[in-house]
Amino acid sequence: MYKIGNLKLKNQLILAPMAGVNCAAFRLLCKEYGAGLVSTQMFHCDLISTLYKEDKNKLETLLGVSKQEHPLSIQIVGSNPENIKKSTIILNKYADIIDFNLGCPDKNILANKAGAFFSKHPEQISKVIKPIIENSKKPVTVKIRLGWNKDNITIEKQCKILEDFGVDAITIHARTTKQKYQGTADWSYIKKIKEKFNTKIIGNGDIFKPGTAKSKLEQSKADFLMIGRGALGNPFIFERTNYLLKHNKNKPETTKKEKQEAFLKFAKLYKQHKEQFKLSEFRQHAMWFTKNIKNAKQTRNQIMNIEDFDEIVELVKNSY
Ligand SMILES: Cc1cc2nc3c(=O)[nH]c(=O)nc-3n(C[C@H](O)[C@H](O)[C@H](O)COP(=O)(O)O)c2cc1C
Repeated sequence: MYKIGNLKLKNQLILAPMAGVNCAAFRLLCKEYGAGLVSTQMFHCDLISTLYKEDKNKLETLLGVSKQEHPLSIQIVGSNPENIKKSTIILNKYADIIDFNLGCPDKNILANKAGAFFSKHPEQISKVIKPIIENSKKPVTVKIRLGWNKDNITIEKQCKILEDFGVDAITIHARTTKQKYQGTADWSYIKKIKEKFNTKIIGNGDIFKPGTAKSKLEQSKADFLMIGRGALGNPFIFERTNYLLKHNKNKPETTKKEKQEAFLKFAKLYKQHKEQFKLSEFRQHAMWFTKNIKNAKQTRNQIMNIEDFDEIVELVKNSY
């Protein structure tokens, strides 16, 4: 049995938080295909606090939590301790895990002295973690990067502070802030941190295949794996990785029919969560689902130009 804090998880695989991607439908799909825990995208604590005060329904629409998707990790980002405290108290009601983002390299977030700002200023982490630890009734996880850049690696300092605060797990995206998504994730740091600290470690970065997942898990001894881009249009990565970890052999390649089924399931789920409906978001998922099909270029060009949900579904359905 796998656990983060007191929360039991059925396996070691976690869907990474991804802004603009992780709608409830996608989270439910990944859960159905074997993710042990799914994450929302990040939500800014200033926004959560404001919406809660002004219009609770709007907040619930923004969070878009579905009853069927638990266990769910909700990620927050911010720099204002009062709003972090308020958000934590609010999210105790919706989340099974509260995840704090100390790794976002987006320039607006950095300008707000939030996210990966703390990879450069780890000494300031305490002021944003304290309000979460003091107010969370749920396990707390924190997502970090290795440091600001290759000459300013702060991961040990960050982990020391987080461990002293007693966070339940630390997710390490094994890149620096300056790298954003460039280069490769350096899992040797995950291994080093795992050897040095007692806190549970969730390894993250560049897992696109079950075989990579298995070898990274074995080499780094991470407790959990987080998968982001590898799941785009490919929820099968969870079931195939679970299969490989359990049976020590590869599950047969996903068939066209299985891919078509998964897309249709996603479309159905997307329609069911219409309060979050955004055609552009659905279209982007349709693009990922059709990345490696026959006549991909032609189909994807067509998807880009269709303005009707059902037409996109019909096109993708018939293109496998
Ligand atoms: C489209 C997109 C949106 C993302 N949004 C978030 C986010 O909201 N919060 C976060 O902590 N990380 C975010 N990330 C980073 C991922 O969670 C993950 O750390 C990163 O993609 C590396 O993992 P991967 O190689 O498995 O994709 C995002 C990544 C992508 C591709």
